[in-house]
Amino acid sequence: MNDSGFTRTEMVSLVVRLTIVSAVTFWSIKWLLNQVDPTNKSKKKARQTAQEQLKRIALNNQKLQIDQFNDYEMMIAAHLVNPHDIKVTWGDIAGLESLIQELRETVILPIQRKDLFADSLLTTAPKGVLLHGPPGCGKTLIAKATARDAGTYFINLDLSILTDKWYGESQKLASAVFTLAIKLQPCIIFIDEIDSFLRARNSTDHEATAMMKAQFMSLWDGLITDPNCTVIIMGATNRPQDLDKAILRRMPATFHVPMPNIAQRRQILSLILEHEPTSPDVDVEVIAKVTDGFSGSDLRELCRNAAVYRVRDYVRQEISSNLNGRPRNNSEDEQFHDTLRPIMMDDLKYSYRKMRESKIQCGSLNIQPRIDLD
Ligand SMILES: Nc1ncnc2c1ncn2[C@@H]1O[C@H](COP(=O)(O)OP(=O)(O)OP(=O)(O)O)[C@@H](O)[C@H]1O
Ligand SMILES: [Mg+2]
Repeated sequence: MNDSGFTRTEMVSLVVRLTIVSAVTFWSIKWLLNQVDPTNKSKKKARQTAQEQLKRIALNNQKLQIDQFNDYEMMIAAHLVNPHDIKVTWGDIAGLESLIQELRETVILPIQRKDLFADSLLTTAPKGVLLHGPPGCGKTLIAKATARDAGTYFINLDLSILTDKWYGESQKLASAVFTLAIKLQPCIIFIDEIDSFLRARNSTDHEATAMMKAQFMSLWDGLITDPNCTVIIMGATNRPQDLDKAILRRMPATFHVPMPNIAQRRQILSLILEHEPTSPDVDVEVIAKVTDGFSGSDLRELCRNAAVYRVRDYVRQEISSNLNGRPRNNSEDEQFHDTLRPIMMDDLKYSYRKMRESKIQCGSLNIQPRIDLD
């Protein structure tokens, strides 16, 4: 017995009991928090997908083993895309030939033909590439096609996971982005809307956000200083003017993806309608002329609506013939695709007018200069 009145055995048993109670409390709270987390299920699924993805990669790559990846890298791997699984090719992008040519020479060639650039540090692939320009003009398409052509892994980084409070430990995740990319290299880390995360730092920044930016930049510097590392950060933004100057400096290769001009619009329209059944009266030149201020994505929507009109007409015709008491027979059903008329110039004109109207109403299109269709 000591001064406090406890025997040695009592002391030991007290410590053991306290330890057990603390451990049970800790795990119970952890379990409870996991249950309360609304994203728990999707996170579990993402982790499973990532694990399968990395297993496949490790199978095809002798140098990699699945147990080389830590838990944080696993989480990031949920956003990993194998270049063979990327569907977008250069052939899916119209009107940007010179930009693509430049990108292939400055970014892709140094990755594919490292031997040609080995004797000079100045000619290695740039570690930062920025695609900027108005929305819907092909930035994301270009990023995907680059990864496919270069044969690099592609991490489509959703930055919200780095700031997600449920993940906590965001610093470890930020660092995992880079360590995973380095293990898998060559790899492109794609950050869409990079301005939302790496915008110019200001005094209203939350302390954690400021720390995250600083850490991100120092990890990035690690890539830049290693000449043998083939990891590229590719960012896309509509607002390059909002980007931190320090970020712009780290992205020496910048490409402007502009609003398409008339010739580019003609090329985009021709590509979109290439495999669609169109009537001989369709003249893409005319539509290209009047769609000043339309992005590639608008042109796609214009054609999609036009294609829907022909189905709508067919359905209306069918309803009216049913109302006239003529039931549809089986052979009519079979002939559905044969009888569906092709996309006509009128469909495109109608679709254009509707889109133009709604764009003017929401302020995304200037009324002047106005070129009419007829
Ligand atoms: N040059 C183009 N050639 C063919 N299709 C295009 C082109 N530009 C845009 N599109 C069409 O528009 C869609 C949107 O393109 P994309 O997602 O690449 O635009 P974005 O520039 O990344 O836009 P945002 O800034 O809003 O992210 C594409 O899926 C494609 O259908
Ligand atoms: Mg995009």
